[in-house]
Amino acid sequence: MKFLLRNPFLTRPIKWGEPFCNREKELQTLIREAKNSGLVVLYGPRRCGKTSILNQLEGRLGNDWIRIELDFTFVPNLRELVIRLDEILTKALPKSKKIRKALAAKKVSLELSFDPVTMTPSFGLGLKSKDAGSLIAESLIRLELLTSLPELIDRRVLVTFDEFQEIIYAPDNKDHIYEKLFRGVFQKRPEGFSVVFCGSKNTVLRKMFSDRARMFYRGIKSLDINSLQEDFFIPFAEENFSRTLGIDIPKVIPEVVCRFLDGHPYGLQKVMHNLWNLCDTEKTSGIDWPEALGIALRDFLLEELLPFQAHIGQLTPVQRKTFQAISGMEDEYQSIFSKESLGKIGLAQSSIALSLKALDEKGFLTKVPEIGHDRYVVTDIIDKLCLRILSGVSVDEMTDRVILAVRSS
Ligand SMILES: Nc1ncnc2c1ncn2[C@@H]1O[C@H](COP(=O)(O)OP(=O)(O)OP(=O)(O)O)[C@@H](O)[C@H]1O
Ligand SMILES: [Mg+2]
Repeated sequence: MKFLLRNPFLTRPIKWGEPFCNREKELQTLIREAKNSGLVVLYGPRRCGKTSILNQLEGRLGNDWIRIELDFTFVPNLRELVIRLDEILTKALPKSKKIRKALAAKKVSLELSFDPVTMTPSFGLGLKSKDAGSLIAESLIRLELLTSLPELIDRRVLVTFDEFQEIIYAPDNKDHIYEKLFRGVFQKRPEGFSVVFCGSKNTVLRKMFSDRARMFYRGIKSLDINSLQEDFFIPFAEENFSRTLGIDIPKVIPEVVCRFLDGHPYGLQKVMHNLWNLCDTEKTSGIDWPEALGIALRDFLLEELLPFQAHIGQLTPVQRKTFQAISGMEDEYQSIFSKESLGKIGLAQSSIALSLKALDEKGFLTKVPEIGHDRYVVTDIIDKLCLRILSGVSVDEMTDRVILAVRSS
């Protein structure tokens, strides 16, 4: 039998048609909301599979739909938003005479006004040309055109906004004007127009979508994604080894990896990717599974260190120290503000409090509300493992424990 020798464990966003593990419940919700012209906010930390699941959604919706993607990491201001929207609209609109006529008609007929109390923009027919120079008006025209797409091109439209929380950092986002623009336009969306907002800074995103003055605090569906459950990942790994290499991977291998990495989607794929490569070259001579897993894990951890160091490069020294301290005490459920902890860290309580807030907003830490005091945990298990290595725990020590779990199973 000839096997397809391409590594099925992908370490980048998964496209439609590529091996993708479960997320069936979440996909059903997304499909239902899209078909009902709904708005969804998709929460999930870095590298948990937001882009991948949206790619699956697009594929599952099929050809009656077009997907429009916009990543707000690359939209620092309204001028850039206008440029991006122009690119999107130019690509989406066929250059037929009928459409050009419809657009020309829209452009001269749009009127922008603001509610004096809520500052919510409204628009209607009759834009005066003198307003057209304002970037807010320019954005509004384009967003309005975006929502007209289903009618103009006779297809349903799925808009996906990635890293949407970044709009709050735009220097020209005065009085939450961005949020008001999107709300004003999308609240009046037509049938066949659906939007998924997502981002990896969950604290900031949640705040945006629960504030009544800012986003769609009502009528929006929230959806959380995080780790992959081992009940789904184990069969996924088994099936992919068997289909591509004709090898039966012992169940305990994906099982211990799931436990070691708390089901972290990117981590699981990366370790399995490494293991698959080893098996691909060694399959004729028989595989020593614990040995191979040890190599795959060690390579994975060492490869993650460099990007991790670059990632924490955005933190101040005090934030880095606080991050390290939280990671060190996480398992002991000890308060970072206890006398003992403060003494160990050597930072003032007020500096730590500020750092915790910043780390939470940047997605490095997650706040776990508890009676008495809030507890913080490191959001990303890979960050936690890298912090451990940087604090002196050896990679071998970490992987040996996992190998032992395999050998003793
Ligand atoms: N359902 C899944 N099955 C298998 N692998 C997955 C799944 N979801 C995500 N992954 C893997 O996790 C990694 C991260 O996926 P993806 O880029 O979609 O996440 P993201 O949340 O969009 O990340 P970022 O925050 O960096 O944008 C990829 O390597 C992908 O292969
Ligand atoms: Mg992504």
